[in-house]
Amino acid sequence: MTVAAELLAYVKARHPRSWRGVEEARALDTARFDAYAELLLGWAIRALGDGAIARTVDAFVHFTSDVNLAQGRYEADGRYESSSYREVYEAVYADRATMDDYLWGVYLTNFLWVHHLEISAFYEARFVARLPERARLVELAPGHGGWGLLALHRRPGATLAGFDISPSSIDIARSLARAAGLADRASYELRDALTLPAAGDADACICNFLVEHLETPARLFEVIAGALAPGGRAFVSGALTAAQVDHIHEFRRESELVLLAEQAGLRVLETLSVGPARTLPGARHLPRSMSLLLQRRTREHW
Ligand SMILES: C[S@@+](CC[C@H](N)C(=O)[O-])C[C@H]1O[C@@H](n2cnc3c(N)ncnc32)[C@H](O)[C@@H]1O
Repeated sequence: MTVAAELLAYVKARHPRSWRGVEEARALDTARFDAYAELLLGWAIRALGDGAIARTVDAFVHFTSDVNLAQGRYEADGRYESSSYREVYEAVYADRATMDDYLWGVYLTNFLWVHHLEISAFYEARFVARLPERARLVELAPGHGGWGLLALHRRPGATLAGFDISPSSIDIARSLARAAGLADRASYELRDALTLPAAGDADACICNFLVEHLETPARLFEVIAGALAPGGRAFVSGALTAAQVDHIHEFRRESELVLLAEQAGLRVLETLSVGPARTLPGARHLPRSMSLLLQRRTREHW
């Protein structure tokens, strides 16, 4: 049985209410879905051993249900429930049990959520495929590490330095790197990404789904610009009107992310903004995920 078939059988048997969403993602691009199941879930199976499918899929279902509940509260209150980064840090990023489950759940959204499968395709075609052979990558907030590891897998000469504030993230990213046979090219450090010095020598930077977790999102774009060599590229994703217990900064319009990037000296090459196939009945907000392909500008004017 293929990993995709095992995954589908498990969802159908144990989480029938999640079946429709997973089926929608697979229908969007069956070949890509099955290839990610083989690759990404294959790494998780090697990292976690027996029971990996149950462990990760249960976490995914739990995470998705938490997201839907948070979105319901946001619809009712008109604002995100958390505003203090410190409180979120204590309750989520520093809490092992919460964070381990959260990260395995988020890991599978890269292909089990239909709109995130679109982002994964955009990431591969427009960012990873254009990386220099021996690219020096920086990843801010790698979490599980899956985004950066996918880039290393596709680019055998590339290396990556990742920085995350959560001990769980560092451990899981390291374990996945080992499982993927990429540990010799990926290093992870426990560090607040906002304290990274402006080394200006990275060929590319990956920063997915950190910006909405911050009290000062503008600072993140300065860090990204500072990490890149002139002409270096970044792939950055953020959430708009999409609640989670650890989302603090409520982005409402795509232009807000574009503006922050431009103000930090980054040129916006391409963007993709995608929403889920279905939303809560009568919802006022469309929860979106937006990705930006950026380049550190080399001149004062573009
Ligand atoms: C939603 S997860 C995103 C993980 C992964 N990048 C992805 O897109 O699936 C958010 C990650 O941001 C990390 N994080 C939050 N604040 C951070 C900070 N100031 N510096 C570095 N990492 C941070 C968390 O520990 C967590 O791993």
